Amino acid sequence: MSLKTVRQKFHDRLDPIYGINEVSALFDLCCEQYLSLNKVDQLISIDRILSSAEIDKLDHVIGKLEIHRPIQYEIGHAYFYGLTLIVNESVLIPRQETEELVSWVLEDYPLNTQLSLLDLCTGSGCIALAIKSSRPNFRVIGADISEAALIVANKNASRHALDVTFKNQDVLSLDFSDHELYDVIVSNPPYVLELEKSLMGNNVLNFEPHIALFVPNDNPLLFYLSIATYASKALKVGGALYFEINEKQGTEMIAMLENIGFDGVVLKKDLNGKHRIIKCLKRNA
Ligand SMILES: C[S@@+](CC[C@H](N)C(=O)[O-])C[C@H]1O[C@@H](n2cnc3c(N)ncnc32)[C@H](O)[C@@H]1O
Repeated sequence: MSLKTVRQKFHDRLDPIYGINEVSALFDLCCEQYLSLNKVDQLISIDRILSSAEIDKLDHVIGKLEIHRPIQYEIGHAYFYGLTLIVNESVLIPRQETEELVSWVLEDYPLNTQLSLLDLCTGSGCIALAIKSSRPNFRVIGADISEAALIVANKNASRHALDVTFKNQDVLSLDFSDHELYDVIVSNPPYVLELEKSLMGNNVLNFEPHIALFVPNDNPLLFYLSIATYASKALKVGGALYFEINEKQGTEMIAMLENIGFDGVVLKKDLNGKHRIIKCLKRNA
């Protein structure tokens, strides 16, 4: 079977699910990953006859895509802020809106700034590692409750030779016993309400870790309140707290942060015009 025939098979079986453009992109990714063919090589080799092992692999991927398994879990990596990060089903696939959170932190602190930054609910380590790669003088620590996620985060740090420390920490029982003060705390914690499950695609619901996604309907700010309370002690005066949030929680978030003792709360829209990122500063004592 030729590469051209396999390409047609991708389109026949997957276009009804993903649409022609996305299937073309998925096919390109698979050619790169499994056949080491970039787009130009692919065109040159379009009549190449594939081995049975190559055909089996690509058939297997088509089957997984048909059941909505995200391609990133299939190929084992995702792209985030210029980094290629290892991902598996114990971590959330890093999202584009989270890159905007990273951009905001980087905009606020020039290249050679020296400071300490804590990334809570770090998952794959994407936020911590993207910031460290752009701001090498930062001391960066990431924390998560999931040991499996921490293994992935550590592998990502090694892969990019980035000096980030990852530790196991339940952010719902943070205590301030280490008395370490940070300049910046950043977090993208779980924030999807259980009742929003029905609005989500099978690619997320059936494959991404629910521990990374959901909060009880009656306690949408569960993680934010715990992290902000901790940050009100663990940040230096004037230190900054950044969150990615559920677009529906902007007003409640502002009230909660001001109530806890933060000033200068700024709620920003993401590229899709949704209020998804928020920043505030620790008030003078
Ligand atoms: C929305 S994901 C964010 C992952 C990553 N920071 C990102 O932006 O892609 C939330 C993360 O919170 C972690 N998490 C869930 N409950 C937690 C808890 N009680 N304490 C610490 N981390 C927790 C999950 O394991 C998951 O990695």
